[in-house]
Amino acid sequence: MPESIWFGHDVGTTREATGELATLLPQEQNFATPKPERLIQRIVHIATNPGDLVLDSFAGSGTTGAVAHKMGRRWIMVELGEHCHTHIIPRLKKVIDCEDSGGITEAAGWKGGGGFRYYRIAPSLLQKDKWGNWIINKEYNAPMLAAAVCKLEGFTYEPSDSVYWMHGKSTENDFIYVTTAHLTHEQLTLLSDEVGSKRTLLVMCTAFRSRSGGFPNLTIKKIPNTVLAKCEWGHDDYSLQIENLPIAEKPQKKQPLLFDGEAE
Ligand SMILES: C[S@@+](CC[C@H](N)C(=O)[O-])C[C@H]1O[C@@H](n2cnc3c(N)ncnc32)[C@H](O)[C@@H]1O
Repeated sequence: MPESIWFGHDVGTTREATGELATLLPQEQNFATPKPERLIQRIVHIATNPGDLVLDSFAGSGTTGAVAHKMGRRWIMVELGEHCHTHIIPRLKKVIDCEDSGGITEAAGWKGGGGFRYYRIAPSLLQKDKWGNWIINKEYNAPMLAAAVCKLEGFTYEPSDSVYWMHGKSTENDFIYVTTAHLTHEQLTLLSDEVGSKRTLLVMCTAFRSRSGGFPNLTIKKIPNTVLAKCEWGHDDYSLQIENLPIAEKPQKKQPLLFDGEAE
């Protein structure tokens, strides 16, 4: 088993890390356990190549992302606390704008550039009621629910101003309608007539009653059952397909977003 000791004069110390942060952020944004950039540089150097993705799911003051960025790696940071706003975003903006001359900037020959996207993760879509039944989280309003179900069903969330059942689309002629209503046979007949023979509609509702064998242009599914069926439980590997991340777009309308996104 190879062993090595990394001394403070090689990879820095907590005191050095505190100093690095102090030059970047206001005094009141002290962080109790920062890592020196040189330490993370050594780890990133050993473990990755330029262009690789580096993940720090306990981002804290954002040292991992700052170092990975300066070393030409891509990065993902996850943070539970308010540090995103108080530490990480201000710090990474300075790295990008080349206003951070400390840490490994000189050693890495860092000259600024790049960018990042920031997402606030939505609350869980489903929760259990006091009887143990899965229900839609009360924090979800109608647009948030529609956006979430569109994502799960592979539709682009694009609510129409004029057509109440057009919440999203998968093609020019295939749409999705998300509602917490119980739909009657009469309501479904009306919907089917409005959709017409040249378009199709996926109806996501909590319950429905249809007397006939169905409607040729409607596919009707129930939530939360369908949502639950899409959830994965108990996997060790959730295989996040990060290469398929959607391209960040400016929202066209002022809609509450599922993920409170911001592009930098
Ligand atoms: C020891 S600090 C990380 C230090 C950081 N790597 C640095 O060098 O600045 C741990 C961080 O993880 C965050 N954290 C704790 N539990 C978390 C969770 N479940 N998801 C995301 N972040 C979490 C804490 O808020 C804290 O900021």
